[in-house]
Amino acid sequence: MGGIILGIESTAHTFSFGCVSTDGELFPSFSSLFRPEEGGIHPREAADHHSESTANLLNQLSSNKDFSWESIAAVAFSQGPGLGPCLRVGASVARTLATRLSVPLIGVNHCVAHIEVGRNQTGCIDPVLLYVSGGNTQVIARADGRYRVLGETLDIGIGNMLDKFARSQGMPFPGGPKIEKLSRAYANSGPQSLDDAYLPYGVHGMDLAFSGMLTSATQKVSEGSPLEQICWSLQEHSFATCVEVAERALAHTGKTELLLGGGVACNERLRQMSQIMCEERGAACYWPDKQFCIDNGTMIAELGRRMLECGIETELMDSAIDPSLRTDNTTVVWQ
Ligand code: ATP
Ligand code: FE2
Repeated sequence: MGGIILGIESTAHTFSFGCVSTDGELFPSFSSLFRPEEGGIHPREAADHHSESTANLLNQLSSNKDFSWESIAAVAFSQGPGLGPCLRVGASVARTLATRLSVPLIGVNHCVAHIEVGRNQTGCIDPVLLYVSGGNTQVIARADGRYRVLGETLDIGIGNMLDKFARSQGMPFPGGPKIEKLSRAYANSGPQSLDDAYLPYGVHGMDLAFSGMLTSATQKVSEGSPLEQICWSLQEHSFATCVEVAERALAHTGKTELLLGGGVACNERLRQMSQIMCEERGAACYWPDKQFCIDNGTMIAELGRRMLECGIETELMDSAIDPSLRTDNTTVVWQ
């Protein structure tokens, strides 16, 4: 590696360090995922996990043959949005490293980082982004120097909904990949049927909602519907809502590229449904590698790189975290 930007991600369950070269080559991240023994993610416990993983992750990063501390040109970190205690761990490590190495510190918007790593990896230019993760579900497009949220979930994030349903059926976090597996088994087992498997469809104008779907799916399983069928139905309904709003965003903005991002964008069925919608309207559909869909340090480094190129740095006194930072808070000055 020549000059590199180091990125640190710590918004929720994932603590991750990743690098990008100053000319935009992405390198795999070193990550540790906090998996609660039971229940949801307790912010304090996740933050403890991040603190305890720091030395190990930094050792892995620095023993990588391409890495040297001397080549670090800047340190970027997730400034928000996310869980306060978790964000604080990442920010502290970033401040320490930037100060010790005497390089610029760059606080970045986590949601915008999902977009920029996707643009880097896929080469798309001005997409509508379907951002589907645990905590966030947004349809975003760039207009007048910001990424504008055109539509979003009115209650919980789609990934969070999948995780909650999975947990109610005894499947541990993260539930999304397990639901995908069961859905595929159902889809491959014979003709698919929505009989007794209709769920409330949560599209409200450009916005989405998932909690009604979740309650109904849980109820159907407890009334005896087969789990595999309900997993499949839950995917079909929730993904259809996202693809519908994404299509409307393409129509309203006149843009011709759709980019998927966030952990749920790992899902093959969502990719397929998005691809079909795009083909039908003459648009192009893109998604980054799975390693860059889920939370990762490399995406934070990539947004840091773009900001640094435009001369943007974060002074220590401005480096406080912002748990409720919005996608459209960040002015987008880079191309
Ligand atoms: P954000 O802070 O952006 O909201 P996040 O903290 O939820 O992100 P991500 O790593 O982007 O973290 O996404 C994790 C979510 O992605 C989890 O809800 C997980 O179940 C879901 N997920 C991962 N793989 C799949 C998959 N194959 N199918 C469906 N969902 C998936
Ligand atoms: Fe994320």
